[in-house]
Amino acid sequence: MKIVLAYSGGLDTSVLVKWLKEEYNAEIVTFAADVGQQEELDGLEDKAKATGAVKHYTLDLVEEFASDFIYPMMRANAIYEGQYYLGTSIARPLIGKHHIEIARQEGATHVAHGATGKGNDQCRFELTYAALAPEIEIISPWRMDKFRQAFPGRKEMIDWCRQQGVNVEASASKPYSMDRNLLHISYEAGILEDPWFDPTTAENKGMFKLSVSPEDAPDQAEYVELDFEKGDCVAVNGEALSPAGVMLKLNALAGKHGIGRVDLVENRFVGMKSRGVYETPGGTILLHAHKQAESLTLDRDLEHLRDGLIPKYAELVYNGFWYAPEREALQAFIDESQKSVSATVRLKLYKGNVITVGRKSPVSLYDENIASMEGVKSDYNPDDASGFIHLQGLRLRARAKAQGGPRLG
Ligand code: ARG
Ligand code: SIN
Repeated sequence: MKIVLAYSGGLDTSVLVKWLKEEYNAEIVTFAADVGQQEELDGLEDKAKATGAVKHYTLDLVEEFASDFIYPMMRANAIYEGQYYLGTSIARPLIGKHHIEIARQEGATHVAHGATGKGNDQCRFELTYAALAPEIEIISPWRMDKFRQAFPGRKEMIDWCRQQGVNVEASASKPYSMDRNLLHISYEAGILEDPWFDPTTAENKGMFKLSVSPEDAPDQAEYVELDFEKGDCVAVNGEALSPAGVMLKLNALAGKHGIGRVDLVENRFVGMKSRGVYETPGGTILLHAHKQAESLTLDRDLEHLRDGLIPKYAELVYNGFWYAPEREALQAFIDESQKSVSATVRLKLYKGNVITVGRKSPVSLYDENIASMEGVKSDYNPDDASGFIHLQGLRLRARAKAQGGPRLG
């Protein structure tokens, strides 16, 4: 039996390598995805093998993450519950897809992951496996009594590793859990579970890694220009960049100006409410700028129709239905809507704020002659408005009459 395990090299997954190997008498292949988490990936192969893995893969997925996951989601202006930029959610189907590819390549019958039994990640990984490899068997140790009883806490894990001769650095564990990638860092659990706990105070603010606090941001505003083609940002300040290049550049700019922090209580797919703190610096600029590009170039009714679909699209991404027919159909609609979204957007970054200062487009739908109050002759005839408004008011007058006279509030 062969199991491919999603592996980070941390304490939990190191325990998993050894435990799975013994529990299932299996060969363990480990897989680590580089999605821009900027963690040490160099020593992973040696570490995995020292722990008992027969083979290890580290895949650089940064460009694919940006171009095939972050960018399509940005075209949709996706945001969950109006606040969360979906940084962890959108990385999961990518990781799951490569997990499956390696399992196929290795002829493995099983995949295993280290997500807890209470969260969204287990759903996202397993729904991805279901969509891409319905035949694969899934092992989720955190949902197994046997595993949970053996390892009720970190201390038991460290003791067990020592006993088994597995070398783990017993690095001080943080009082919260982090998940980092090219789009964001999430902070959850531990001290953050109290929704009143303030992580931004002088003594706590060391938690944040990608951004300074707005109070500490420069007093001088900075301008930035983003070029969009068909809904995708292709250049920053005139410099053509790949999608990952754009994200890196915007992360640095936004982080410097204290942009992109969000603190919310969100609804997990499994039903519970959970407090999350996020830094999504570049993504915050990108989504803001994308909306400005659309404001010039998207037809009103198309824009409103799309806007109505954002909550649904975001929920699909959040819940783990990236590889589901309804997400794919929505994506096709969204991508079609973006054909005209080519524009340049100029922004000012200042102490946590993204301020729009200009936008232009060769295919702009904005017509100064039509919008102007100066009475220039155009296709818009104010006389037409009389009948237009009168007819729009027909049913309102009928309702008012039926209710017996004027409504004065
Ligand atoms: N609550 C966020 C989400 O569901 C972040 C999850 C963080 N995951 C993690 N393994 N630390 O997308
Ligand atoms: C986990 O439970 O593994 C992390 C949090 C989440 O998936 O929601």
